[in-house]
Amino acid sequence: MTAQEFTPKAYSNTTESGKVTWESPSNIALVKYWGKKKDQIPENPSISFTLNNCKTITTLTFSKKENSSDFEFDVFLDGEKKDDFKPKIQTFFERIELYLPFLKHYKFKIETKNTFPHSSGIASSASGMSALALCLMSVEEELGVDHLDDYFYKKASFLARLGSGSACRSIEGDLIVWGQTEAIEGSTELFGVKYPYKVHENFKDYQDTILLVDKGEKQVSSSVGHNLMYNHPYANNRFQQAHDNLEKLKPILESGNLNDFTALIESEALTLHAMMMTSMPYFILMKPNTLEIINKIWGFREETGLNISFTLDAGANVHVLYPKNESSEILEFIKNELVVYCQNGHYICDQIGFGAKQLTM
Ligand code: PMV
Repeated sequence: MTAQEFTPKAYSNTTESGKVTWESPSNIALVKYWGKKKDQIPENPSISFTLNNCKTITTLTFSKKENSSDFEFDVFLDGEKKDDFKPKIQTFFERIELYLPFLKHYKFKIETKNTFPHSSGIASSASGMSALALCLMSVEEELGVDHLDDYFYKKASFLARLGSGSACRSIEGDLIVWGQTEAIEGSTELFGVKYPYKVHENFKDYQDTILLVDKGEKQVSSSVGHNLMYNHPYANNRFQQAHDNLEKLKPILESGNLNDFTALIESEALTLHAMMMTSMPYFILMKPNTLEIINKIWGFREETGLNISFTLDAGANVHVLYPKNESSEILEFIKNELVVYCQNGHYICDQIGFGAKQLTM
């Protein structure tokens, strides 16, 4: 497919106003996206587990306006007007206007809330941008475009990507690939696709307990971090490694080999942070407690032989991953030994999920 295929034909309806609501989850990458080209095209392929409990719920109210010279919208988080969110959405609208030409003809009210605390250090950009992209797709349907399901989700993912790269992996579940790679048939840079091969029972209901080590604002944003991959001394090797890791993940997902799974995802997490530490300027997003947790996890795994592993995103929080049938012992360990390293003892229990849902409110 090409981006041009997402440009709609003329709209048949002239709907005056309406309201749509979607809830969309966050996701956690196993093979990480780090580094991008123009228009949010990733430098390397990535794959993620869609989450289930960490979600954004967005209601979009729209009404026709007289003047179509500019975008008009207001944003509310938990009922409170948030003008500081507007520049990001303005940029998003500018990037997607070509694919949703109705945008300047309506005034929008965007009301959003997250199921996780706003200041938890969990990025709400993936769930937030995907929820908004889905709401806009529903508006397009109300304007008379009869989307087939497959096209609807592809275009929603395509639009979400233009808001925040990893958001394109939040539309569906449970394993989503984004970025073109020979390892995965049908993979594309334009949107996320469902992982098309066999997945072992071991990965069904996989658990993700998110340990909130640092809830503060990140010192370096993802967009600055992605840009530091330009002229990065290890960039090309890293991009190649992501392709290789996707290839290596296939037999792991098929056979359910949890030792190899652990080695691959922990190496990916540490490589992501190694890229940050070796860029110029260099930076560190892990905190001392991130390392304390990692060491405890390694010790517990050695001692018990249980399949506990970790991954990190672009921050200090630790995602602890494990199969559901080992939950009771691992959760006990988390509560007794790891929660002490979390800010105010906060953590979130999540698990693999199946993507966004439209809500009727
Ligand atoms: O979607 P962005 O621009 O916030 O970048 C996300 C990058 C990582 O979370 C670090 C990795 C990933 O693949 O999600």
